[in-house]
Amino acid sequence: MCGIVGYIGNRNSQEILLEGLKKLEYRGYDSAGVAVYTAGGLQIKKAKGRLAILESQLQDSPLEGTAGIGHTRWATHGKPSDVNSHPHTDNSLKFSVVHNGIIENYISLKEELIAKGHRFVSETDTEVISHLIAELYDGDIVKAVQKAVSRMTGAYALGVLTEYEPDKLVAVRLASPLIIGVGEGENFIGSDIPAILEYTRNVFILNDGEMAVLSRNGVELMTLEGNFITREMFHVDWDIVTAEKAGFDHFMLKEIHEQPKAYRDTMSARISPEGDRVILNEIGMTDEAIRNISRIHIVACGTAYHAGLVGKYVIEKLARIPVETDVASEYRYRAPIITKDTLVIVVSQSGETADTLAALREAKRCGARVLAITNVVGSSVAREADDVIITWAGPEIAVASTKAYTSQLIAFYLFGLHLTQTLGTQDASYVQNAITALKELPSQVEQILDQSEAIKKYAEEISTHDDLFFIGRGLDYAVAQEGSLKLKEISYIHSEAYAAGELKHGTLALIEEGIPVIVLATQLELLEKTVSNIKEVKARGANVLGIGVEGEGELKKSVDSTFVLPKTLDLLAPALSVIPLQLLSYYASLARGNDVDKPRNLAKSVTVE
Ligand code: AGP
Repeated sequence: MCGIVGYIGNRNSQEILLEGLKKLEYRGYDSAGVAVYTAGGLQIKKAKGRLAILESQLQDSPLEGTAGIGHTRWATHGKPSDVNSHPHTDNSLKFSVVHNGIIENYISLKEELIAKGHRFVSETDTEVISHLIAELYDGDIVKAVQKAVSRMTGAYALGVLTEYEPDKLVAVRLASPLIIGVGEGENFIGSDIPAILEYTRNVFILNDGEMAVLSRNGVELMTLEGNFITREMFHVDWDIVTAEKAGFDHFMLKEIHEQPKAYRDTMSARISPEGDRVILNEIGMTDEAIRNISRIHIVACGTAYHAGLVGKYVIEKLARIPVETDVASEYRYRAPIITKDTLVIVVSQSGETADTLAALREAKRCGARVLAITNVVGSSVAREADDVIITWAGPEIAVASTKAYTSQLIAFYLFGLHLTQTLGTQDASYVQNAITALKELPSQVEQILDQSEAIKKYAEEISTHDDLFFIGRGLDYAVAQEGSLKLKEISYIHSEAYAAGELKHGTLALIEEGIPVIVLATQLELLEKTVSNIKEVKARGANVLGIGVEGEGELKKSVDSTFVLPKTLDLLAPALSVIPLQLLSYYASLARGNDVDKPRNLAKSVTVE
């Protein structure tokens, strides 16, 4: 978590740093700070709270200078406070550091530095970095940083300045994302591309164990041992407006509305012009390799994990290969049985989630082939996997994931059909029918979005409740789990998702008069059973909203209110049924006066374990 930016050029750095931090605030927002080279030396300003607080302080007393670093924080070591905010410095105030990640051995380093006379003021792990660099400095900041990082264990993306060498900005990456923006007479660092996109489209993506030395006139890339590296520049071809709100009140609402486009972009080039085959040319897996897959593990976190739950149903149904879906933080520590014929699919919007990345590495260590489904080209997950399916959802800024989730579902449908075609587990007409239905999804999502008002009204009703339940069977249960997470995450209403048939084994005791229960009932084969479960909660006083598909009268008769989805195949229903749930959590959060895009305690990109 945390976002870092840096600038060295000829313009006012304070403005560029603040603009960059605004784009990165989704990564953490409990405090922010900048350090700028001014005529009076290296000056730091930092403040607890949202970036706006720092911004207003800087308006009152600006820092004038043309090079600087900035940080927006999601606290790990030490509570949010002015003193724990970055940039951190040493006792001479000559060195300044911004950091995203965790220094695991910071306690022993701190003890060593204290013994040498360093005085620490914060509770953070980062502060040791600035003291360590100061301790090791003997006239060459690049060497001092190299020596310092050789002493550190953990994860870090760093931006480092020293007053002794004001023409240099040093950046380092190990297990936390960092990109370098290359301009004319100016260069940038950022935790991700939107932070610098206003100024340049040319970037270098740093790999783990690499560093960059930026000056006004150039960028040198090297290993941590000092060996120079040549790397092709990456040209960003998407627009900054896709990373801005474009007239919507919140990024989340904008991203919900971008889903039809995200579906089309993710599937269009991957379906044959005749509409009868899926073409996944980006996957290097031969037919033989596919035939050799004996089991699949899907590994991810949070919403991406929920996409993986749908992925399990899809692949098992289409390809008849056994699939397990696991939470990444559990998977890596439970000694999973991974063999050479196991395909591990990691799913990650950002491609930088620490737990998912660690699971990927564990899978590779055990000899598995790894397929990544990710939204970020050039992310760690994309670079380390054997095969990649990019979800073309465009940058997702809101902490609550929406369009990334649904494009992950599209990726699973495409991959499932790709397996089916190779294995012959479903006949050609089934595949063609599924593709036709897939292509209808974007306009069906548009129809659902046109009914947003109905969901808004319902969201306002439930926004006063403290508890709520989501139930469903099969694929509906997988989507219920995503609906529940979304609601908790941004409205702070406690909710639980249950397999509808499981409720009676205990949780039914919590159902009382007036409690809202949202029932997903899109799986027609299971509808009768789900209706029985609706009766069970209705009999205990629940107020039930049923989400079902067009033409299904049975559901309507047994619930208090309904939301009707356009008709699609049962298998594809998650790509529609989740949309009202996203809108529900958005409007409930709004009704409660919450900060929709930046929910408390969370950050978009979780690059710590
Ligand atoms: C979703 O709304 C979340 N904020 C969160 O669960 C997220 O999906 C999770 O942290 C995984 O992120 P990733 O897709 O970038 O790996």
